[in-house]
Amino acid sequence: MADARSEYYANSENIRPESMERITTKELADKFIAEQIEMLRKQIGDGKVLLALSGGVDSSVVAALLIKAVGKQLTCIHVNHGLMRKGESQMVIDVFEKQLGANLIYVDATDRFLDLLAGVSDPEQKRKIIGGEFIKVFDEEAAKLKDVKFLGQGTIYPDILESKDGIKAHHNVGGLPEEVKMELVEPVKLLFKDEVRVVGAALGLPAEMVNRQPFPGPGLGVRCPGAITRDRLEAVRESDAILREEFAKNGLEGKVWQYFTVVPDFKSTGIKNGKRTFDWPCIIRAINTTDVVEVTVEHLPDELIDHLVKRIIAEVPGINRVLYDYTPKPPATVEYE
Ligand code: XMP
Repeated sequence: MADARSEYYANSENIRPESMERITTKELADKFIAEQIEMLRKQIGDGKVLLALSGGVDSSVVAALLIKAVGKQLTCIHVNHGLMRKGESQMVIDVFEKQLGANLIYVDATDRFLDLLAGVSDPEQKRKIIGGEFIKVFDEEAAKLKDVKFLGQGTIYPDILESKDGIKAHHNVGGLPEEVKMELVEPVKLLFKDEVRVVGAALGLPAEMVNRQPFPGPGLGVRCPGAITRDRLEAVRESDAILREEFAKNGLEGKVWQYFTVVPDFKSTGIKNGKRTFDWPCIIRAINTTDVVEVTVEHLPDELIDHLVKRIIAEVPGINRVLYDYTPKPPATVEYE
């Protein structure tokens, strides 16, 4: 796989020319968008295009570009694996179906994923199940469509560089042409992440989507360590929503690189309204990095921590303790699994 991928991305079309100007302004983004629309129309003609739309920045920008270029020739599939953050799938529907008028197939596969994951505690096994099932659901939906010649993908330049170096199989590529039998359409493949965000803003995508922090493919599944249960997953989702809301209110959105909550699978004793409780802790993690290889911890103001503790305990069922993770990477990784 890694070799075929490296080979595929080795041709000159996939090398960013040194003369290519960094897209830093709306004007440069508008120029890029106009050029891409023309190129996409040339490549696609009157063919049909399919795109897996996760709600992440890269696939969202590709979707918005394709809608501008070929409109209803594009079909987007959004698979909700039940491990999305609060409100995320709804935002995909609101933006792409309601506002931009895209053909969107929304699949709520929550039960399928959570049933398969029940009782599975090994992190690698969990990742395999989530990744494998995702492709299965996508393929099932794709098979219902006829005559689709093109597959849109949110590949960005760092993905290509990493594929070439053989560092890792990048997350955006669902499959290579020999497997998927479709021609790839990758309009942002020569852009860096910051440029994709500028293009997304110029396309009119909401700031929340454009500034979205990195979110792992297996979603909240890796933030619910051990065997996932629906109640603990809900505690992760609710506490994450509170954390994101407070970061946005306090001007930290887009400033701190990544922040999230984790609810581990153990309980401790507490007191609520004079009664003994036996509930989970909620761990807050907020980190900064440039390369994800080394990571430092964001130190929050005491008042914000106090406020977060109060809100999470009061609003999230099943939580009676809030902890803050002060561990950099290394020795810890960003995620818990
Ligand atoms: P770690 O935990 O390896 O995380 O220090 C580094 C960055 O990668 C993200 N991450 C993932 N992204 N699929 C993804 O798409 C994954 O399985 C995955 N695991 C970790 C993590 O959120 C962090 O930004």
